[in-house]
Amino acid sequence: MLDLKRQYEPLHQEILAAIEQVLASQHFTLGPAVAAFERAAAAQLGVAHGIGCSSGTDALWLALAAAQIGPGSTVVTTPFSFFASVSAILRAGARALLADIDPVTFNLDAAKVERLLNSDTGAGVNAILPVHLYGQCCFFPRLGRERGLTIIEDAAQAWGAEWNGVKAGGLGDIAAFSFYATKNLSAAGEAGMVTTNSEALAERALMLRSHGMRRRYYHDEIGWNARMDGFQGAVLGVKLKYVEGWNETRRTIAARYHGLFSKAGLAEAGPYPAHGVVLPREVEGAKHIWHQYVIRSARRDELHKFLASRKIGSEIYYPLPLHMQDALKGLGYKEGDFPEAERAAREVLALPIFPELRADEQETVVAAIAEFLS
Ligand SMILES: Cc1ncc(COP(=O)(O)O)c(C=O)c1O
Repeated sequence: MLDLKRQYEPLHQEILAAIEQVLASQHFTLGPAVAAFERAAAAQLGVAHGIGCSSGTDALWLALAAAQIGPGSTVVTTPFSFFASVSAILRAGARALLADIDPVTFNLDAAKVERLLNSDTGAGVNAILPVHLYGQCCFFPRLGRERGLTIIEDAAQAWGAEWNGVKAGGLGDIAAFSFYATKNLSAAGEAGMVTTNSEALAERALMLRSHGMRRRYYHDEIGWNARMDGFQGAVLGVKLKYVEGWNETRRTIAARYHGLFSKAGLAEAGPYPAHGVVLPREVEGAKHIWHQYVIRSARRDELHKFLASRKIGSEIYYPLPLHMQDALKGLGYKEGDFPEAERAAREVLALPIFPELRADEQETVVAAIAEFLS
């Protein structure tokens, strides 16, 4: 599914040298390597501020808390994402309201969010937390801004993705990135980042990242220890130089999958699968970075097992929508409330995609799927 050793091999001298510098400096928490990465990362994304932190989950919490989302606030997000998109809202002390997804992009459906905002329950909403799932931006300019809502991007899967030429991380008021191992820009362990163009939000995120301190040992608010490790800053600083090229290669690999599936006569128009597979689509305005290449299949579970029997990795992101998770029963939703998210959870299958994936390996994946469907 993902072979990170192929990425590490050509970079290992450069990464070891960067790690050695951290050891030589003995700056293990934040320090010059993190500061240099923060500056370079913000410049690459075209945002004013990048605040390195300990994980994508912490980045989400920091972004919410910096935007003063807490007890008494209500945030709208998607039921079809990684758990942290909702749990961070709850950790911040706010209420989470969900809206269903679009069956083509798997991102929040703007019309459904609008309907929710216009309903009685929507009256007290303070913020929207769109998730750029699988590496394609979820953005709806009409919503939110006009109503004065705060937009907090969950850009964990979308380093370098764009919407009408603007990169994820600079589309909303504040954003959260993850550098977990499976992400298209990954650390050598846990790390994340908050980005924003707002001086005030950046200042608050910095303060909250270090236990609410503006002055050493004077605590203005209850923050947390969410600082980035120096080694992670060093590794990320090296990889940052390559990630734009890797993203372009991901786009080439996605186009190759499209071609192979179409040539094999397996691709269906969708949005729902019948006998073949529905391919993921890049929508107008979006620059997809293909963090994941996710197909839909009516016999997804069988296909997943078949590929495993052929030693081909595939993954289900995500098998159970968030409103049906035991831990989130308190949200008050039930099965049937978000039919698109529930259907996606039954049909999605992520295929191997990473910059070093070879063309012949892709051919093997598509040939195996063709064999299964025949
Ligand atoms: C959409 C989304 N949000 C948040 C996170 C949380 O990031 P992390 O695992 O770095 O805490 C992830 C990654 O796992 C994610 O995919």
